[in-house]
Amino acid sequence: MTQKGILAFSGGLDTSVVVKYLQDEYDMDVITVTVNVGQGDDAKRIAAKAKDLGVKRHYNIDSRTEFVKDYIFPSIKANALYQKKYCLATALTRPLIANKVLEIARKEKVTALAHGCSGKGNDQVRFDIALRSGSDLPIIAPIRDKNLDRDTELKFAKKHGIKIDSVAKKFSVDQNLWGRAIEGGVLENPYKEPPDDVFLWVKTANMSDRPSYLEIEFKKGIPTKVDGKVMEPQKLVEYINKKAGNAGVGISDHIEDRVVGIKSREVYETPAATCLIEAHADLEKMVHTKHENQFKSIIDDQWAYLAYSGLWQDPLKADLDGFIQTSQRVVSGTVKLKMYKGSLRVVGRKSDNSLYSHSIATYGTESTFDQRQAKGFVKLWGMQSTEANKLQEKRSTKT
Ligand code: ARG
Repeated sequence: MTQKGILAFSGGLDTSVVVKYLQDEYDMDVITVTVNVGQGDDAKRIAAKAKDLGVKRHYNIDSRTEFVKDYIFPSIKANALYQKKYCLATALTRPLIANKVLEIARKEKVTALAHGCSGKGNDQVRFDIALRSGSDLPIIAPIRDKNLDRDTELKFAKKHGIKIDSVAKKFSVDQNLWGRAIEGGVLENPYKEPPDDVFLWVKTANMSDRPSYLEIEFKKGIPTKVDGKVMEPQKLVEYINKKAGNAGVGISDHIEDRVVGIKSREVYETPAATCLIEAHADLEKMVHTKHENQFKSIIDDQWAYLAYSGLWQDPLKADLDGFIQTSQRVVSGTVKLKMYKGSLRVVGRKSDNSLYSHSIATYGTESTFDQRQAKGFVKLWGMQSTEANKLQEKRSTKT
């Protein structure tokens, strides 16, 4: 019986090499699936590339709206930033892509699942676990299985007449609606400033001399209106990417701890994610109590950690989603952001659910806050700490 493998195909170096490997070394018919999550590639070009590689059938699925509604929006509700910096742009697409691959795998009755991930990254973890959650078919990952490095892949591609674009030769890039991740090349020196030409979405020079503003309205944690206009989810993200990117906002550069233990230098362009998470987190502070804020930030960190680490399917993630969803019932209101030559600042927020009370907070004469009550409160609030210091001091002078 002919073996049939299915592969999530981007048309890039890794997945093109994998198609050839599956055909030549595993003697398989190959089905390719490209899931459009806003990577901005030309679907026709990718389909043509798949055809050139001799695949049996190629599928192109437009999942942009689903990606925004079911993956990006929940991540905004969770203020999801892995290690406080990374908005999970790549990570969020993996469970979605894996689900689409599984759907077609069933339809096509394939005998194996394949992916183009290396054994050094996080994506192998995300794909393996997501695929495993929905199927018991073998998983083939030639780049990992054969321990291939990028240079070997480039040579292999050349030998087989696989065309690779020039950016891919310099850097490894992954992009979608939620952001653009750039790795490799000169960026592997963590002290070297990224050259301007790595950035495509965010301006690093020739920015306007005038500040620009973004007004984002949220309803129950979901952004619905920007700059006074109701926008469809995908349009909304695209609009902010463009506007904030033009103002130089959205570059993030950090040392990231990968699941497999490697520390890597990661550079991201994520203008919409940066603005939406900043605005959403700010609004939460206005409508949640101190205790809710404190606890939710623990939940948020854990949510980002699970999504990053390929544990999207873990029951804990659904439990966290339950908490987060409940917490969003009051997260409605508008946040005003100011952007100027790469800087981003929240300059205003308002909400019908605001817990801010002017009469309590004001330093003016109309204050209803009786300061005299504070004296006793502060004394008791600090009692254990001040007593502990005194008792310890006493004991240390005795010995
Ligand atoms: N470090 C990020 C992650 O694991 C981004 C990886 C992006 N991949 C790339 N080839 N640049 O989600």
